[in-house]
Amino acid sequence: MSSDLFRVKNIDRLLSDADQPERRLKKTLGWISLTALGVGAIIGTGIFILTGTAAAGEVVEYPSILKAPVLQVILYGHRAAGASGRPGAGPAIALSFALVAVVCGFAALCYAELASMIPIAGSAYTYTYATLGELVAWIIGWDLILEYAVSNMAVAVGFSAYVDSLLGTFGIHLPASISNPAYSPDTGWHMNFNVVGFLVVMLLTVLLVFGIRESAEANTVMVGIKLVAILVFVFAASKYIHPANWTPFMPNGWQGVLTGGAIVFFTYIGFDSVSTAAEECRNPKRDLPLGILFSLLICTVFYVGVAIVLTGIQPWQSLRNAAPVANALEAIGLPRVEQWVTVGALMGMISSLLVFQLGQARVWFSMSRDGLLPRAFSRVHPKFRTPDVATWIAGVFVGIPAGIFDIGTLADLSNIGTLFAFVLVSLAVLILRRTQPDRPRGFRVPFVPVLPILSMLCCLILMAGLTLENWIRFFVWLIIGLVIYFAYSRKRSVLGIEERAGARL
Ligand code: ALA
Repeated sequence: MSSDLFRVKNIDRLLSDADQPERRLKKTLGWISLTALGVGAIIGTGIFILTGTAAAGEVVEYPSILKAPVLQVILYGHRAAGASGRPGAGPAIALSFALVAVVCGFAALCYAELASMIPIAGSAYTYTYATLGELVAWIIGWDLILEYAVSNMAVAVGFSAYVDSLLGTFGIHLPASISNPAYSPDTGWHMNFNVVGFLVVMLLTVLLVFGIRESAEANTVMVGIKLVAILVFVFAASKYIHPANWTPFMPNGWQGVLTGGAIVFFTYIGFDSVSTAAEECRNPKRDLPLGILFSLLICTVFYVGVAIVLTGIQPWQSLRNAAPVANALEAIGLPRVEQWVTVGALMGMISSLLVFQLGQARVWFSMSRDGLLPRAFSRVHPKFRTPDVATWIAGVFVGIPAGIFDIGTLADLSNIGTLFAFVLVSLAVLILRRTQPDRPRGFRVPFVPVLPILSMLCCLILMAGLTLENWIRFFVWLIIGLVIYFAYSRKRSVLGIEERAGARL
C-alpha cells in the first residue's frame, strides 16, 4: 500500500530512453553557453527592486504576528507582533548578498552532483523521481511550480514598475488602476489591476506557443545587455557615493542582515535551471557543475557591486520604492543613465521571464507525461510542436496573479518554495551516497556529509527569516498538492500502471 508512494523510476532506463535516436536532443551546449543560460535566468527583476526593499525594511500598518519573521516568533512568541514588520539590512545588504551567495553555493554543489549523475531534463523533479520515489517527486514538482510560477509573477510585477518609471522620464504616468497591484500588505485591497504585468506574460506566452524559443545565442546577447546595464549603473553612479550613507553599516544588526538575506535570496533563484539543459550538453559531467558555479559567481560579483553603490548614493531608508535603482539615478541627477539602465533592466527581465515560462511549462509537461497531471498538459501542438496547453496554463496561472499581487508578497512565497527544494536536493545527495554509492558521478560534492547538512541548515535559517504568513501560505500550497496527489495522480501514475500490469503477468 505505502510502497507505491516510494516507487522510483529506473535511472538506467531514464538514461537509455533519453539516448534513443528519435528522442535525443541536440548536444551543443558547452560551459560558456551554460553559464550564459544561468546568468540569463538568475538576473531578472530582483536586483533592481528587492535590493532597495531589503535594505530599507518594512513597517506594516497593522501589527500582527503573521507579519513577523518566523525566527522572531520562535524567539519572542506573541511579543514578536509588537516588532511587526521587517528590520532593514541597511548598507549591510551587500553582506546579505555575499552570505546568501555562499548558501546558494552549497546548494549549487548538491545540484551539480545530481545533475552530473542523472543528466536528464526535468531537474530536481526527475532526480527525486529516480531516487526518493514518486511522492517526494510529486512534492518537489509541485514546489518547482511554485518557484518558477511565483518568481515569474514577481518578475512581471517588477517589469511593470520599470516600464512605469521609464515612461515617467518622458513625463507619462500610467493611472494607478492599471499599473498598481490589487493587493499590497501596506495598503490592503484596491480596485486596481496591474495590466502591464499581465500583458507582458501573455505576450510571451503567445511567443512560446508559436515556438519562438530563445536560442543559446539570442540568450547570450540579452545576458550581455543586462550585464552592461548593471555595469553602467555601477560605474556612472559610483562618482556620487557619499561614504556617510554607509554608517551605521548594520543599523539593525545581524537580524537585519538575515531578514535582508531572506528577501534577496530571490535574486539568486535560477542557477538551478542550468541543470534543466542537461540533455543538451556536450559534456554534462564536467560542464554542468562549471556552468552552475560560474553563473552563481558572476552574479554575486554584480549584486554586491550594485548593493554597495546603491546604498552609497542614497540613504538606505529612502530605498523602499517600486524602482529603487532607477529612482536613485534620478535623485542624483542622471536621467540619461536612468533611461539606459532601465531599458537594459527591462530586456533582462524579459529574458528571465522567457526562461522561467519555458521551464515551468516543461515541469507541467513532464508531470503530465508521467500521468501525475491530466493528459492535456502534455499535448504537443500539431503544427508548432510546442507544449501549447502547458504553455497557456502557465501563462494564465502567472499572468493573473501578476496583475493582483505586489512584488514583495510574491518574491517571499517563491523564496520559501525554492529554499525547500534546495533542502530536498541536499537531502537527496546524502541519501544517494548511501543507497547508490557506486553510480558514476561526474562531479562529487566535497566534505559529505558536512556540506549537504550545512546547506540544509542554512536554507532552513533563511526560511526562518521569512514571515509566519508566508509559511502558512506555503503549507497551504503543499496541502493542496498532496490532496491532488492522493485524489488523482497516485492512481493515474504511468509508472504505477506499468508496475501493476507487470505484477499481473
Ligand atoms: N533571480 C530572478 C530575479 O532576480 C528570479 O528576478
